[in-house]
Amino acid sequence: MTANQQRIEQHIELLSRFTATPGAGVTRLTYSQEDLQARNYIKEKMVEYDLTVTEDGFGNIFGKLEGALPDAPSVIVGSHFDSVPNGGAYDGAAGVVVGLEVAALFKENNLKPAYPLEIIALVEEEGSRFGGGLMGSRGMMGLLTAEDFKTLADKDGVLAVDAMADISVNPANEKKRDPKTIKAFLELHIEQGPILEETNIQIGVVEAIVGLTQLEVTVQGQAGHAGTTPMDRRSDALVSAAHIIAALPGIASGEGQGTVITTGRLNVFPNGANVIPDKVVFSVDIRSGKEEHVLNAVRKVEELIVQQDGNGIRTSIEQQLYIEPKELDSSIRSLLKEVSDHLEIPYCSINSGAGHDAMVFSDYTACGMVFIPSKDGLSHCPEEWSDPGHLADGTTIIYEAVKRLTEAKTT
Ligand code: GLV
Ligand code: MN
Ligand code: MN
Repeated sequence: MTANQQRIEQHIELLSRFTATPGAGVTRLTYSQEDLQARNYIKEKMVEYDLTVTEDGFGNIFGKLEGALPDAPSVIVGSHFDSVPNGGAYDGAAGVVVGLEVAALFKENNLKPAYPLEIIALVEEEGSRFGGGLMGSRGMMGLLTAEDFKTLADKDGVLAVDAMADISVNPANEKKRDPKTIKAFLELHIEQGPILEETNIQIGVVEAIVGLTQLEVTVQGQAGHAGTTPMDRRSDALVSAAHIIAALPGIASGEGQGTVITTGRLNVFPNGANVIPDKVVFSVDIRSGKEEHVLNAVRKVEELIVQQDGNGIRTSIEQQLYIEPKELDSSIRSLLKEVSDHLEIPYCSINSGAGHDAMVFSDYTACGMVFIPSKDGLSHCPEEWSDPGHLADGTTIIYEAVKRLTEAKTT
């Protein structure tokens, strides 16, 4: 193992310890104590690598190395540092670590960029605490207003601003980032699927990212006694929800073209074994590479849900996120391929079925992503793993691309 491979592995290992579920994967919800521990670690490393550290009003972390050109836009490298519940050590963290390693290499090699280099660690990409997802990037780009943010709460009713205050991050910090201050955004990410491993190619240069939407569905019924209420006099919210959820795979396969639909979160109220459920709230995540399929699937899902209305059941749907498929910047894609060729690292082009902050940034700046293989194609689970050698190769590609984009020179 090379020295920088070791350093990368160590960052991944140490960050993975900041979990609310030790022994059962990484659970690092935004503004939790584990967020604070990871935040402190990332900031400490940024300082060690001579970066100037700031946090914005959403708690996104920035480490900046000034460039020689006055007021020039930054080349930003990084990813998110939150996780799904019981997720893995690499989703998001790998990209943050690559950012840290690029900064370390700039320092070790006495590189001075003309354009500033910024390493970024974003909050709440997964939406695991506050719903929707891509919150850090959407916030930075002004797509989440300060007003919306003030009322944003988690499932227990804890306001995002209060949770932030608990870990001493200041919601009054500057929120919006002027897109003119960004020259490019680069992110390394694990593939989270089986393609690179199956084709035995260690690098994927991302062409496009799927369009996706997340709905939050509420089914309202009537609570009652499980023993005394006859079956024909019930308005059981969970039975209605189950009808809806069971029909979702059929809608996805009927739409075809790689359309996928998932219910991954479901809360039953009051959640007592002998109480007929009066309320069920669940998520519906719909994705496809083509926007028309996402839109068709949304329409069909809405029709399905409305069919449950009546007999004491009322449904409602809130769209928490909608983002169309995004193509990444063609000149950055070419640059990443050219650099990989130069380094003699095999690569292929690939599309992303997962959502990424680059989807948001790509409307404002030139974005590029590099994927590395995921063992057994697994992600969003404790088994998630990627090879340190692949991570090191991905880092070298990002580092070389960043040197060119920042026009870095040895001092
Ligand atoms: C993030 O991992 C997403 O694709 O939802
Ligand atoms: Mn994820
Ligand atoms: Mn991710």
